[in-house]
Order: sequence, then C-alpha cells, then structure tokens
Amino acid sequence: MSRVAYVNGLYVPHADAAVHVEDRGYQFADGVYEVCEVRGGRMVDERRHMERLQRSLRELRIAMPMPPAALGVVLRETIRRNRVREGIVYLQVTRGVARRDHYFPSPDTLPSIVVTARATDQAKAAASVASGAAIITVPDNRWDRVDIKTVGLLPNVLAKQAAKEAGAREAWFVRDGVVTEGGSTNAWIVTQAGAIVTRPAESGILRGITRTVLFEVANRLGLTVEERGFTLDEALAAREAFISSASNVVVPIVSIDGKTIGDGKPGPVARSLRDSFYDVAEFARK
Ligand code: PDD
Repeated sequence: MSRVAYVNGLYVPHADAAVHVEDRGYQFADGVYEVCEVRGGRMVDERRHMERLQRSLRELRIAMPMPPAALGVVLRETIRRNRVREGIVYLQVTRGVARRDHYFPSPDTLPSIVVTARATDQAKAAASVASGAAIITVPDNRWDRVDIKTVGLLPNVLAKQAAKEAGAREAWFVRDGVVTEGGSTNAWIVTQAGAIVTRPAESGILRGITRTVLFEVANRLGLTVEERGFTLDEALAAREAFISSASNVVVPIVSIDGKTIGDGKPGPVARSLRDSFYDVAEFARK
C-alpha cells in the first residue's frame, strides 16, 4: 500500500512529499512537532497534543496554520488514507518559506504544515515491553527551552545514536547528577519504598502527554507519585525504572549504563501503569 503525506494543503504520495529548500524548518529548525499514538485507527489524547502544539507555537510566535478542528480533520484524513490502525501520526509546523535570513520573515509568510502517519511494529513493541530495555546516560547539553517541542533535536539524535551503538534503547540526559529525561521519552523510577518518581516539568524537560496521563493512572491505582528530580545514583538503587512516550506508552528499563536495575526484569509498577493507561487516555473519534 502506498503511503500518503499531507503537505501544505495537499495529500501527495509519500515518495514525492517535499517542502521548499528555504523552508525555515529545514534551514533553522524553526518549527515544532507533535507525535500522537494511533490505536484502533483512533488518535490517543488528540486534545492534549493539540493544546501542547498551540503552546509550542505561541512560545515561538509562529501562527497556528489552521484552526484546531480543521487540523483534526487533516490528522484523521492522513490516518485514514494510510490505513493506520496501530501506529503514529506526525505533525510538523514551521515558520514557513522565506529567503534565508535569521530575522522572522514578513508577517504574511504562511506557516508550513506536514502530516504523516505510519503503522508501528506491534510485535517488536510487545517484545521490548516483555524483556525490558537498556539505558545509557549522557550529559544534558541541550538549550534551556526543551519544554518547547521543537524540531531542533540534534542533541537528542546524538544521544539516541550513542545509545544504539552501545546496544541500548534510550539515553537519559543527566544534568548536575540529576536525570532530566530521555532522548525522546520521559524518565521515571520506582523507589524501594514503592513511590513513583519523575522530574517536575516546569522547565528542563518536555511535559510529556503520556507523563500527564500516567499521573492520573497512578492516582487511580492508588500509587504514590513524587514529582521531583532523582539522581543517577538513586536510579541505580531503584526497584524499577521506566520510560514513557506517545509512541511506546511505558517501556520498563532493566539496566542503566550496564548496571542491573532491581531484579533485572520488567517491574510490576511499570506493567500495571501500562495495563491501565488506556482506561484514562482519551480516544478521539475516527
Ligand atoms: N517524543 N521527552 C522528549 C524529549 C520527547 O521527544 C518526548 C516525545 C517525550 C514524551 O512526550 P509524549 O509523552 O508527549 O510523547 C519526552 C516523541 C514521541 C518523538 O519525538 O518521537
């Protein structure tokens, strides 16, 4: 089946989908994105992702390319045309096309918008949940506006590539001994006392939508959540560790920098959070 992408008002064959060479996303990483899970052909937490998109755009003073409801139609149509049942939909908005110049282009420059959707490998995802994943740590060398979901992801790319080359799934950024987040995930531990710990999202990390939903899941399960930074030493001594993101929900972590976490197997807290996730997540209409 041939894939289709939405590019600036048109649905085009994926192989031919292109933006201009002077798109500011291409030239300056001057744009933002969202990744939303698709399950049973329906978007998960569309409302929250749209709210975060609008916040990211506001922070960068990029106009919303169309009203949220119209954008919702485009997202749904892209999912439908690609016949995605289990997968992700990707949305990117940039400041548009203009002659290369660092200053913002003239106010009549239209933002560029690209939407793609694809199925994800469910068997592979299930296998990594069953076995647990490995983490390495790297220094957090990112700018201090990582709360904005910009397409400027070079430190994340380098961190995740380092993880891959070390045989690990993800890299955790560490700043002043404290774990901030993963290259494309939020970071969590479960202490020996059974408390779930993740860093506050006021600054220094992306406020993950999955993270927000997991607070509510934990609450419903009667689990204690402590929203505070944790050190790498604390993570190494934890009972469990896990990562969260829209594309993989919850993935248990069984080693950090080659050191075993807990008993080296996926833990029960990560499993129960994952199992109850869709009881709290919002499903959009098709
Ligand atoms: N990543 N932190 C970072 C740096 C991320 O890039 C992501 C998402 C998250 C988790 O956010 P959410 O729960 O809203 O997906 C945290 C997406 C999936 C990606 O880049 O593919």
